[in-house]
Amino acid sequence: MSNESPKTFTIKNYGCQMNVYDGDRMAELLSAQGMSAAADKANADLVVLNTCHIREKAAEKVYSEIGRLRRRDGSSPMIAVAGCVAQAEGSEISRRAREVDIVVGPQAYHKLPEMVASVARGENVVDLDLPGLDKFDVLPKRRKTGAATFLTVQEGCDKFCTYCVVPYTRGAEISRGFAELIDEAKALVDAGAKEITLLGQNVNAWRDGEQDLGTLIRALDQIDGLARIRYTTSHPNDMTDGLIAAHAEVEKLMPYLHLPVQAGNDRILKAMNRSHSRDSYLRILDKVRAVRPDIALSGDFIVGFPGETDAEFEDTLSIVREARYAHAFSFKYSPRAGTPAATMDEQVAPEVADERLQRLQALINEQQTAFNRDTVGKRTSVLLEKPGKLDGQLIGRSPWLQSVHILAQGLSIGDIVQVDIVDAGPLSLKGEITMRAAA
Ligand code: 5AD
Ligand code: SF4
Repeated sequence: MSNESPKTFTIKNYGCQMNVYDGDRMAELLSAQGMSAAADKANADLVVLNTCHIREKAAEKVYSEIGRLRRRDGSSPMIAVAGCVAQAEGSEISRRAREVDIVVGPQAYHKLPEMVASVARGENVVDLDLPGLDKFDVLPKRRKTGAATFLTVQEGCDKFCTYCVVPYTRGAEISRGFAELIDEAKALVDAGAKEITLLGQNVNAWRDGEQDLGTLIRALDQIDGLARIRYTTSHPNDMTDGLIAAHAEVEKLMPYLHLPVQAGNDRILKAMNRSHSRDSYLRILDKVRAVRPDIALSGDFIVGFPGETDAEFEDTLSIVREARYAHAFSFKYSPRAGTPAATMDEQVAPEVADERLQRLQALINEQQTAFNRDTVGKRTSVLLEKPGKLDGQLIGRSPWLQSVHILAQGLSIGDIVQVDIVDAGPLSLKGEITMRAAA
């Protein structure tokens, strides 16, 4: 434990994009208090670990990271554990890792400056309040952003899938207000953002009175200087007709949809409490593709859910074949304490789950490579986001969220360029510049 007021900080994010957003906001908050981002991360006075609890491995990483933070002289920086491990494990963390000074949940991090001051006075602090959206009233105005940035519009989840910790760590579904979001989006665009990805654990459950996510997207479409809009993660049950129609009508809304199905068998979907069926999921895709045939579909899958038989797993492979993914994440089921699935009978043997995961990932990779190959020969827009490894190389994203590598002298990050796709691999595309597009 350190008893001095920290002057420099570093924030390490784990897990989902909502943590990236929260990490950015914590950095802004600490900077507004006069602290600065440490040039040398290894010697930062304050280290914030912004953690993920979704699967066991994600949570274990935090404890090994805490161990590594001890310096050669035996001292430790001030350590704050934020995010979902903080929320789920609470004061257990300080018992297991004595070096930890602050444990702060995802809805209490706006109080970080006060907590840091308390630690400097010699106290340990744990704050796991879930006060809803209070933090957004306190956080400073957005002034710094990359060309592609995130905006949290909704937090929490009421769906209670039986395997998932999110409803416990992030609390109930709650939406930020329309006006506040438009203001934050404008501030991000003024600070240089060209693309905004709207975030929420159930982003398409966003509501403000009668307004749904489709309405919000149409309003963002009116902001000059904003070129691209995305949103993630969506739940099948919240895919409203208005949101689907926005994919036809709003040019700035990129043709990409992350819509997890998790499994392809109805008995398993029911045991997961997904509240949609295989067929209802596929019918949603039909509707989306009717208005946006080129949509890049992405998803999440869990293999080895308790009781999953070989035949039921085959249904997951077959829904992947039917749905046709451009990209997908797949995971081995990981029992999480406190969730209903953790105590279900018939936990699947790890070797069986491993083998299923390999088969599923091989199929997904095949589809992803095929999707990327299909873009070869197309001319499309690319938003340049970061430098590449080669001299003069920049990396950007296509409308379908593919990574595109371009050799381009004289162009800058934040430019939107027209590119001919000349080659494709499983993970990225190669593009050649044709002309600079209007932003
Ligand atoms: N085990 C494995 N994967 C999980 N996910 C959520 N909880 C678990 C769990 N207990 C996956 C789901 C979800 C993604 C974010 O993480 O696929 O969509
Ligand atoms: Fe977890 Fe299900 Fe909520 Fe997604 S919808 S956050 S998987 S409980």
